[in-house]
Order: sequence, then structure tokens, then C-alpha cells
Amino acid sequence: MIYNQEFFDAGIDRKGTNALKWTAKGLMQEGVVPLWVADMDFACAEPIREALVKRAQHPCYGYTTITDEDAQALIGFWQRRHNLTLKEEYLVMLPTVVTGLRACVQTMTHPGDGVIVQTPVYGPFLSAIQESGRVLLEARLKRDEIGRYTMDYDAIEDHLRKGARLMMLCNPHNPVSRAWSREELKALLSLLNRYNAKLVSDEIHADFVHQPREFCPVLSLEEARENVVMLVAASKTFNIAGLLQATAISRDPDVVRMLKRYMERTGASSGNIFALEGTRAAYTNCDDWLDGLMAYLKENQKALLETMEQLLPQAVISPMEATFLAWADVRAYHIPHSEIGEKCSKHGVALTDGQFFGETTGEGFMRINYGCPRGQLLKGLQRFAHAIKEA
Ligand SMILES: Cc1ncc(COP(=O)(O)O)c(C=O)c1O
Repeated sequence: MIYNQEFFDAGIDRKGTNALKWTAKGLMQEGVVPLWVADMDFACAEPIREALVKRAQHPCYGYTTITDEDAQALIGFWQRRHNLTLKEEYLVMLPTVVTGLRACVQTMTHPGDGVIVQTPVYGPFLSAIQESGRVLLEARLKRDEIGRYTMDYDAIEDHLRKGARLMMLCNPHNPVSRAWSREELKALLSLLNRYNAKLVSDEIHADFVHQPREFCPVLSLEEARENVVMLVAASKTFNIAGLLQATAISRDPDVVRMLKRYMERTGASSGNIFALEGTRAAYTNCDDWLDGLMAYLKENQKALLETMEQLLPQAVISPMEATFLAWADVRAYHIPHSEIGEKCSKHGVALTDGQFFGETTGEGFMRINYGCPRGQLLKGLQRFAHAIKEA
């Protein structure tokens, strides 16, 4: 199989698969173009499908074990793609990254503790803190006139000075599309180290950093001590989020032990037969699919910018350094935030509401998922423009 423009242009008909993106109640109806939840409308790489089909053909689906091969597949991928050396004893298998966010909050802090996040940020960061009796400490990202975001170290330090002991980072950052640089991350870790604070870094979008930017895993930095946990998955990278498989990585044996114990206590163990088969195949045999995808996404970025420039010239799209999600500022059109979603729906397009990422920092923003065939993207953008410009 060749993963070229033709392959990605073809997309995939997801009818009959109960795809959340195409069937979510209240948001999706027949004919609506979905540019929202972060999965992609492309067929996954052939080796993943083959691995799943092969396993499905064996008609016994009893309990299964996580093997050394599962760990080695992940370790090999991170060495090959990100030059990061990991060891099997650092890994804790989880069903999802969101499980990991919650597990880290629960095991690395106590009720009533403050946890720092940089808003706007992926919504489950906020709920993981709020729903576990911890205190959400916002260190809002700073935004410049072209919509590029940077860290507010003063705001972070202010929280640390007042006693915060954990920060949750999104690296690269969803929704603002920043690929944090080595220098920015070093400065952040130095600051956290000065206050003896811990860091959980959600690196699920690691593989979506667009040239000339480079991805920097936090565990590659000398400043990353035992206090750092990275959360990773093949789910976004290879479009297999429905399989439910993720991994927490820590060099601290105590953290690994605590996370494993937490997972045992929840009664949920990861590693169902198909998740393991699919993830192993993804990490070992699908680099060509990923390279083809990245080239296609780069072209989608160009198409998105050209279309927005033409149809919604006052909208500001944050520079697209990472992910397959564009952060659109439509405040110049002066539409009350609560009406934007309704207008989009009326015009037949579904985007992610900016306030999912922060009530204040997301007001007047919408997130556009461009991980889809170009034709679908352009159709959705045209509808978005009509919705915003409607009198
Ligand atoms: C930053 C980030 N973390 C986690 C997730 C969800 O991952 P999972 O499905 O493994 O919980 C997403 C999905 O969009 C995401 O953008």
C-alpha cells in the first residue's frame, strides 16, 4: 500500500461503525460535516488491520497478558522516531491517556492540593483536577498578535510559591498548536525543580510536530528528574483511539508502583487483546503511513489558511506548529460565544467549542480538526465562514 495524497484524499466511509465523530447526539445530524473530535477520517495503516483481523480469526478471546514484545514495540518506536531511550520498567500500561491524567492527579497529589494547568487546554485536564477534589490553578498562556502562545513563567511561579506541587503540561499543546521548544521546556523544568514540584506531560500529540519545528519529549531533558511522568499513546498517531491503549512513563520506581496500584484499585486493566495487537503493529510497522499522513496534513494546513484568508479574513489562526487541530479566533466578528455553535450547526458543520478548553481563554474561539480528506475540510470551512458571516 502506498500512503500518498490519493490514499488520504479517498478518506473512509465510517457509516455503520458508530463513529462518535459522525454520530454524536445533539451535534451530528445527516449531512453535517464533522471537523470536531480529534480523530481522523482516514483508514489506518494496513499492518494494523491485518494484525486485528488475524487475531480476530482465532475464535478464543479469553484473558490475555501484556508481553515484553508490547513494551519493546513502544520502546523501539520512541528510540527510532524521537531518539528517546526508555526501559521496560518505566512503563505502566493504561486504557487511555485521560485515565493517566486522572491516575497521576490522584496518586501524585492529595485532596485540596493545587494543580497548575496552562489554559486554554484539552478539557479533561480541567475535569481531572476539579472532579478529584484538587484545586485548579490556571497559569493562562500568553498570546501575541499573530495568535502564537507562550508560557507565563511568572504565573506558574506565583502558584508554586503559594504551594502548588504538580503541573500538568500538554506537549505539544492542544488546542493552541504549540510545539514547545527545548529551551521553553528546560526553563519550565528548572522552575519546577526549584520548588520541588512534579510534572505530568501529556505527549499524545508527539508525532504531529510539523517541520521546521521539532518535538522535544520532556524525558529527554537533563532537568527531568524522578519528578516527571510522560503520558503517551499510539491512538492519535495511528488513528486507533477506539482500541483504548496508552502508557504512562516514569523513571521513578515509586511512581510506577503507585500508578500500577491505582490501576489495580480501579479494577480496570488495560491491554485487551485487540488493543495490544493493534498498538504493537502500529509501533513497529507503520512509519510509512505516518510519514504520508504528515505530508498530507501539511498540505491541509495550506488549504485551511488560504480558505480562511479568503472567506474569513478577520479570523486569526494560531500558527500550526503541531497536532492536526487549528485554533481559530473569531472574536473580530463580535458574535456572542453561545451563538457560534448554533450558527455552525445551522450551516451544517461541527467544530469543537473553544470553551471546552477554558471558559475565559476559549471564549470567541473554535477548534478545527483538519485530519480529514481535503474536500471534507474545505466544505466544512465554507460552512463555518457562512455561519460566522451570517447577519
Ligand atoms: C492532549 C490530549 N490528551 C488526551 C487525549 C485523549 O486521549 P485518550 O483517548 O487516550 O484518553 C486527547 C484527545 O483529543 C488529547 O488531545
